[in-house]
Amino acid sequence: MEGKGRTALVTGASSGMGWETARRLAEKGFEVIAAARRLDRLEDLAKKADHIIPRRVDLSEPRAVDAFCGYLSGLPRPVSVLVNNAGYSVRGALEDVPMDAVMRVFQVNLFALIRITQACLPGMRKQREGIIVNLSSMAGKFAFPMSGVYAATKHAVEAISDSLRIEVRPFGIRVITIRPGFIATEFNEAANRITGDLLSRTAPDYKPLYQASGASIGKWFVNATVPGADLIAKMIVEAVVSDSPEITYSGGFLSEEFQGKRFQSDDEAFDRFLTEKTGLTGRVP
Ligand SMILES: NC(=O)c1ccc[n+]([C@@H]2O[C@H](COP(=O)([O-])OP(=O)(O)OC[C@H]3O[C@@H](n4cnc5c(N)ncnc54)[C@H](OP(=O)(O)O)[C@@H]3O)[C@@H](O)[C@H]2O)c1
Repeated sequence: MEGKGRTALVTGASSGMGWETARRLAEKGFEVIAAARRLDRLEDLAKKADHIIPRRVDLSEPRAVDAFCGYLSGLPRPVSVLVNNAGYSVRGALEDVPMDAVMRVFQVNLFALIRITQACLPGMRKQREGIIVNLSSMAGKFAFPMSGVYAATKHAVEAISDSLRIEVRPFGIRVITIRPGFIATEFNEAANRITGDLLSRTAPDYKPLYQASGASIGKWFVNATVPGADLIAKMIVEAVVSDSPEITYSGGFLSEEFQGKRFQSDDEAFDRFLTEKTGLTGRVP
């Protein structure tokens, strides 16, 4: 799809993959609505590229999402490209994640995505064209221990994308799922900030599990080169402008190893692989 004369919306455009995707789409000639909470960041982005419209929205607030959708529905030119990118991770053993944190991450990663997609679909159907890009994760296809809630949101994004893709293809609308592995953005920082010091709060039973998995996962990153946001942003923009995009794209650190293993193994073998990789083979006495 060509950019000129078309509008794109990128959620989570204040940093990381969203920032880079918004910038690149604007470069391709799209008018880009860049949405997130940190308006100062969005305004910085608008200074760096033409055709960027900064728009503040807190996707954790259903009423703010409704108001944002009202704005989208009233646009003189409907959104042709929707990049549902905003998202974050909460970490912790399931027992440790407070229910309000569970609800909030589902609200941002899934419910807001559904609501915004619903707001963009009528315009896309009317135009008989549209591209919806949903940011899943390799954690949309399997779940790391101590990260089940986040993985659940991304598994749900995969499910929504898979069914929607078939529903709206007859209207000329494409649905693309992106499954990044580890990418160097502010994602980790945000997860640490939101989740806090889990080790100091958890029950003694879980302490050795946090320590073992933390140590094992830490080792993956020793001397590793973790790609930056541009790898995924480039992929997204290539898919948007392509006449025949794939339905899913993957990339990033460990994406190939983990997804390869998941798709080639039966459930038992993959469970053994992940248990070993995350250092959780032993039994707590
Ligand atoms: N980095 C990775 O390793 C990785 C791997 C797999 C998948 N992903 C997925 O890729 C997507 C982008 O992540 P990233 O790595 O680019 O992370 P990032 O740099 O932390 O960016 C996340 C974006 O989401 C926005 N966001 C978070 N909470 C929000 C809220 N309540 N309302 C509105 N916007 C909100 C943030 O904006 P504000 O804080 O300004 O609101 C920010 O722009 C996410 O869906 C993430 O789950 C990331």
